[in-house]
Amino acid sequence: MLIKENKIWDIPEHLATPESDYLNRRQLVKAAGLAALSAGASSLLPSMAFAQSDPTMDLYPAKRNEAYKLDRGLTPEEINSKYNNFYEFGSHKQIYTKAQDLKTRPWEILIDGLVEKPFTIGFDDLVRKVQLEERLYRHRCVEAWSMTIPWTGFQMSELVKLAKPMSNAKFIRMETFHDPKMASGQKQAWYPWPYVECLTMQEANNDLAFLVTGAYGKPAAKQFGAPLRLALPWKYGFKSIKSIVKFSFVEEMPKSFWEQLSGTEYGFWANVNPKYPHPRWSQETERVLQTGKRVPTLIYNGYGEQVASMYSGLKGRTAFY
Ligand code: MTE
Repeated sequence: MLIKENKIWDIPEHLATPESDYLNRRQLVKAAGLAALSAGASSLLPSMAFAQSDPTMDLYPAKRNEAYKLDRGLTPEEINSKYNNFYEFGSHKQIYTKAQDLKTRPWEILIDGLVEKPFTIGFDDLVRKVQLEERLYRHRCVEAWSMTIPWTGFQMSELVKLAKPMSNAKFIRMETFHDPKMASGQKQAWYPWPYVECLTMQEANNDLAFLVTGAYGKPAAKQFGAPLRLALPWKYGFKSIKSIVKFSFVEEMPKSFWEQLSGTEYGFWANVNPKYPHPRWSQETERVLQTGKRVPTLIYNGYGEQVASMYSGLKGRTAFY
């Protein structure tokens, strides 16, 4: 495939936005917010305006599941919500303004493939069929930065149960919306839209696999991949697909968006491991958003106890790329 533009991971680490820029931006937003308030506006950020009118607002904040603990502080919302990868809205980190174009209602989700009976379900119906809870998760991007975040959502295993897969279903293929009129990044024809990600059935049923509906105690801001995204804290962040519209249960291993672009760099498993460098950079350490400090990266991003047994049959680098 011809790739006409530098890919996401081509951005050298030193070009990623330094923390001082965030802090400056923060001050700007604060100043702008004060001006808006004095003009009688009710909110500072578009994401907050969205959250206030969300039909699922009554479900938040969900009770925190204390089993999921962090080894570091939470990344503030102001930082997380202005440093995002969401290629549908641009191939840089400051997509949060463009992402407000995302229309999140109506939002229909198709469940098909090897299931008893394929069906479509509206997001607002789905979210009331499951048990929402809050979990504090780490997130490690393949670009070697990391953050922590209080996600709200439900275990992916609940969705698998609702789908009633057949015994020959081995993988779940997930797809993001495809609407280049709404998401201008999708006009970049050299990317294989729509964004696709996939998991084994065993991975999808692991307790850590979490379908996210909210963050920071309210419905997810659009830039986080509203209304429904995935969080897989033991894998590199690109596996955590945003704004999902389709779950297909399949027998053959599907190819993800990034695997189609560069399979030697972004393979199916994408399990975090500091020992195996990305072909173009080290994965030994990560830059923590907010503090800017580099800390050692942990195997499976620190979640080995819950997930390592799933990969006991895979040897060496193949288990991680
Ligand atoms: N999902 C879609 N649909 N489009 C994307 O560009 N980027 C991925 C992942 N999910 C992406 C996506 C990458 S590379 C990362 S690191 C995370 O989303 C970023 O999530 P965040 O913006 O909430 O930090």
